[in-house]
Order: sequence, then C-alpha cells, then structure tokens
Amino acid sequence: RALLYQLWKGNVSSRMLNPRLQKAMKAYLTANKHGVRFRGRRAAARSRAELLCRLRSRARLRTLDGTEAPFSALGWRRLVPAVPLSQLHPRGLRSCAVVMSAGAILNSSLGEEIDSHDAVLRFNSAPTRGYEKDVGNKTTVRIINSQILTNPNHHFIDSSLYKDVILVAWDPAPYSSNLNLWYKKPDYNLFTPYIQHRQRNPNQPFYILHPKFIWQLWDIIQENTKEKIQPNPPSSGFIGILIMMSMCREVHVYEYIPSIRQTELCHYHELYYDAACTLGAYHPLLYEKLLVQRLNTGSQGDLHHKGKVVLPGFRAVRC
Ligand code: C5P
Repeated sequence: RALLYQLWKGNVSSRMLNPRLQKAMKAYLTANKHGVRFRGRRAAARSRAELLCRLRSRARLRTLDGTEAPFSALGWRRLVPAVPLSQLHPRGLRSCAVVMSAGAILNSSLGEEIDSHDAVLRFNSAPTRGYEKDVGNKTTVRIINSQILTNPNHHFIDSSLYKDVILVAWDPAPYSSNLNLWYKKPDYNLFTPYIQHRQRNPNQPFYILHPKFIWQLWDIIQENTKEKIQPNPPSSGFIGILIMMSMCREVHVYEYIPSIRQTELCHYHELYYDAACTLGAYHPLLYEKLLVQRLNTGSQGDLHHKGKVVLPGFRAVRC
C-alpha cells in the first residue's frame, strides 16, 4: 500500500519493490538483451509543459511503410495499408480512452464512462464480453504484441477480438533499430502472420510499429528518470497511451496508475496473480507510470477512485 500512495504522489524508487522484483530488474540490466546504449542524459527535472513538448517533438508515431530494406524489396509498400495510422483521423479524435487490462478495473463500474469516449484502445487478448459493466464494450484500436500473432492459443486468425478494429502490432527489435537484423531474428516471428492477414483482410487497418518509435519512447523515459531503467521496450500500455496522444485531443487512461482497488491480480480476465504485472520486471513499467503521473491533468479523486489519468493530446499542446 505504501508504494501505491508514493506512486500517486509521483515519488517512487525501485528500492521500494519487493526483493524478487528488484532481483529480476537487476538481471535484465545485466543481460541487456536488446543491446541498449543510452546516449542521452538522465533526470533533468522538467515541468509538465516541458515534458509534453518534448514528448510531442520526439515521440513521432511511426509504422512500417515498406520503404526501407528489407521490406522495400519484399513488396511491403503495397502490403501495408495505403493510409498511415497517423493519418487515419487527420483532424484528430476528440476524446479517447485507454483501458489497461489490470485486475484493479474489476468492480469499477467504469464501463459506461469508457464507452462514452469517441475511441477506445484495448490490449492484446483483453475481452469485453462478460466484463461490460467494468470495461465497456467499444473497441476502436487494439494493440497486440507479437506473441498474440504467433501463439495458436490466441486464435488470432478467427477470434472476434481481432476483427472490426484497427490493429497495431509490435515486437521487440534491437535498440539499433536495424531492420535487417530484426527481420532475420524477431522476438516472435510476426512478419509471416502479418503478410497472411493483410492478404486475407486488405480492408482492415493493420500496422506494425516501427522499432524507432518504440525505442524513442524508451529514451524519453530514461531521460526523465534518475535511476537506470530496464533496457527493454516500454510496455504495451505506455505505447498505447502515446499512440492515443498522437491521435486524440484528450486521452483518459484507466487503471494504469492503480486506484484504491489495486490488486496483485494481473489481468481482469484471468486468474493469475503477480505484482510484476502492475509494477514491472521486464518492462520499465514503474518508471513509465511515474512519467505518466507527472503528466496527469485529472483530479486526485479520479486517480484514487477510478485509477484515471487525463492527458492532453499533442494537438492540444502549445509549445
Ligand atoms: O499484460 P498486457 O501487456 O496485455 O496489458 C496491457 C497493459 O496494461 C500492460 O502493457 C501494462 O502497461 C498495463 N497493465 C498494468 N497493470 C496490470 C496489467 C496491465 O499497468 N496489472
């Protein structure tokens, strides 16, 4: 609980994590499996306005467009959707919701509020059916990691979760963002199912995030954190928040910073308990949350009771 109150105040250190999570964090720092070499500077104490402007100028939403090797030679220019993700709503959506999959959203009765937004973003295999009262039933965008595309248990091809929505997939690439290396050795091979899905469903907007976008987000988190963060990509949650900040005028994020309902239940739709889901082990999740806490323009009451953070979209930011 102490950690929750510190997180609400924006004052947390990894030293407050339980010993198991601290150990896991250190192991990731030592392994540095994506070859991260941070060249920036850490921890200038920036104001909210400065942070927002930096995010807007540095975190440019980018997806594979087929113009770079090796994708250019493989015909990806004609494979990817003709309209880029950043142009799908050229005038910007008004108000958007990002719904985290955390167990803490159970018994929140937030469903109606979530569905009242113009667009709703959800993650991976998080369902709405059976959970409408707490999470709503509208889904506009779904972000999926490469395991969803490759693990047969997720039924990517035929599950209704992945139909009638904008799909955005990602996979951890080397920090160098060398696309040739990544294509040869993705974490999970999302390229083959992507090609197949594009050919079968050419009218569904389906994108793969550019590794440069993902690692730019990582750089920004590290630049604004005093401690050394895990050298692994940010969580889907943070990526989703930044995508919606590029597409919407206002973004309401639910149960990213936990509410008073905080629980070790990892997902609302699964009986599995692990504090790492909320506080991070592989992902620099604790630091992502600190950064988002600093950007919050919503009320303390909404943070504590709804687990809600309100962020301005980049269009609404004056720099
Ligand atoms: O687990 P999954 O990645 O599908 O969940 C989507 C996102 O929701 C995570 O990337 C993380 O940012 C957020 N999350 C969280 N706390 C949890 C579970 C998920 O903050 N307990």
